[in-house]
Amino acid sequence: MPIPVLVAVAWPYASGSRHLGHLAGAYLPADIFARHQRIIGNDVLMVSGSDVHGTPITVRADAEGVTPQDIVDKYHNEFLSQWDALGISWDLYTTTGTDHHAEVTQEMFLAQLNNGHIDRRTTTQLYDPKAKRFLPDRYVEGVCPHCGYEEARGDQCDDCGKTYDAVELMSPRSKLSDAVPEPRETEHFYFKYSDFNDDLKQFLESKTGWRNHVLNFAKGWVNEEGLIDRAITRDLDWGVKLPVEDLGEGKRIYVWYDAVIGYLSASQEWASKQDTPEHWKHWWHNDSSRHVYFIGKDNIPFHALFWPAQLMGVEDKIGQSPLHLPDDIPANQYVTFKGGKASASRGVGLTISQGLERYQPDALRYALAANFPEQADTEISDDEIIRRINEELVANWGNLVNRVLAMTYKNAEQAIPSAGELTEEDDQLLLLVDTALQTANSQLHQVELRAALRTAMEAAKETNKYLNATEPWKVLKTDKERGLTILYVALSAINGIRVMFAPFLPFSSQDLDTMLGKTTGWVRDELNPGTELSKPKPLFQKVE
Ligand code: MF3
Ligand code: ZN
Repeated sequence: MPIPVLVAVAWPYASGSRHLGHLAGAYLPADIFARHQRIIGNDVLMVSGSDVHGTPITVRADAEGVTPQDIVDKYHNEFLSQWDALGISWDLYTTTGTDHHAEVTQEMFLAQLNNGHIDRRTTTQLYDPKAKRFLPDRYVEGVCPHCGYEEARGDQCDDCGKTYDAVELMSPRSKLSDAVPEPRETEHFYFKYSDFNDDLKQFLESKTGWRNHVLNFAKGWVNEEGLIDRAITRDLDWGVKLPVEDLGEGKRIYVWYDAVIGYLSASQEWASKQDTPEHWKHWWHNDSSRHVYFIGKDNIPFHALFWPAQLMGVEDKIGQSPLHLPDDIPANQYVTFKGGKASASRGVGLTISQGLERYQPDALRYALAANFPEQADTEISDDEIIRRINEELVANWGNLVNRVLAMTYKNAEQAIPSAGELTEEDDQLLLLVDTALQTANSQLHQVELRAALRTAMEAAKETNKYLNATEPWKVLKTDKERGLTILYVALSAINGIRVMFAPFLPFSSQDLDTMLGKTTGWVRDELNPGTELSKPKPLFQKVE
C-alpha cells in the first residue's frame, strides 16, 4: 500500500537571493528524499512557497525605497527560475501572499481563539521616538538575553537559536534611526503555547529515529524552561490581516505564525488546482500518512514546538489535533564558508545563481549532497565543490558510464549484448549492486542522504575495480563472447547504480533513461539484450 508522504519544505523569505547554504540545508535534501519516495511508489506531496511577510521583507523594501510587494515579486520570480534550473520537483511552490493562505490563517486563528488558546494582552514593545513607530522583530538588534551574542535580531538569536521578545534584548538598537528605543504599551494577541507543554513533551517522547541535535534541542526547551505565551501579532502594516477588529489599525499577524500554516494551505491549494479539492485530507486527516519537514536548524523551534502546538490548538480537547502532526524533522546544521555561517544578508558564501553559473546542476547537486551538514556544521568551498565533481562524480561515475557505453556501442553492434555464462566474479558484482540498492534504500528512508550517496558511489567504484580486473578491452580481442559478457555485466551493474543516483542527479538520469531505457522502481532491472543503444555522450563535464 502506498503511504501518503508530505514533504514539507521551509519557505524561503522572498527578501533576497538565497545561497548554497539554504539549498544544501533544506530544498535539495527535500527534493532527493521526495524523488526516492516517488520511485518506491509512495504518494508524495511536496509543497512550499515563498515566505512573503514579516520584517525581513519590509526592512529590505525600506532600504531600497520600493514597496514590499516589489521585493516579493522580484525574489519569488528568481526562486521559481532557480527551482527549474536545479530540478527541484515541487508538486506546488506557491507563496504566503495568496487569498487562500490568508483565509486558512484566519480560520486557524479563530479556531484557537474559540478554544481559549489565544488571548489579548497589553504589553510593552520597543518604540523608536524619532521614526515614530514600533520596532518589531528585525527593526531592532541587540545583545541576546540567552547567550550574550551581540548581533542578535529582535525575534531570534542567530547564535543560540533561541526566540524571544524584542523587549528582552539587552542594549537594543533601532535599525531606523539613532534614537534609543523606548518601551511603550501596545495591545497584542498572544498564543498560549504554555497550554501545550505537557502535550509537546509527550509528542517529543514518542519520537524515535530523529536526529539527536533536533530532538535534544526541542526536548531541552520544553523540559527545562517550558514554552511561554508569545505575541502572534505585530505593529506592522504588512502581513495577514487579523480576523477580528479588536486591536484597530496597523496590526498584522506575526510572520512565523502564518508561514508554518503554509504547509496546510499549500496542500489545499494543490488539491484545488488538481480539481480534487478534498484530496489534501489524504495527507492531513490520515493517521497513516507521514509528514517530513526539511528545514535548517534555526527553524527547529518553529517546527518542532510552535507549529505542533498551533496544530494541537485547533481542537477543543487539548493535544488532540485533527490535523496530522510532524513525524520527522531532519533539520540540517549550517553550511559554513571560510568558517562563517553562510548568510544572504551578510554576503557570506555563493548565491544559488552564482552556483548555477559555475557548475552543471547535477554536478552542483552532487557536490552539495556529498557535504550536507546532517550532523555538524560543514564547510563548503569552491575547491571542495570542484574536488567532489572532478575526483568523484566525473572520475568514478561519469567515466564509468561513458567507458562502458562507448565500448559496448563499438563492440556489440550498437546494442545491448547478450549475456554468456556468468562467472563467480560477475555474480559477485551484481550481488554487491543489489545489496547496495537495499542499503541506500534504508539510508534514504532515514534521511541519511550523504550516506546513501556514498553507497551509490562505492558501488560505482567496485564496478570500476571489476573492469580493471577483467579488462574487457583486452579480452574482446581474444575471446569476443567473454568480452561481451563482461560488458553485459558492467552495464547491468550500471543499470542498478543509476537507480541509486536518480534522486540525486535528475538531469543525467534522464540522459541515461534515453540511452538505456526507463527504470521500473528501486531495483536493478534486467537488461534486454538486442535493445539498440544511442550514441553515448559524456554525462558530466570536468570543471577547470
Ligand atoms: N522564511 C523562513 C526562513 O527563511 C522559513 C519559514 S519556514 C515556514 O527562515 F514554513 F515556517 F514558513
Ligand atoms: Zn543567543
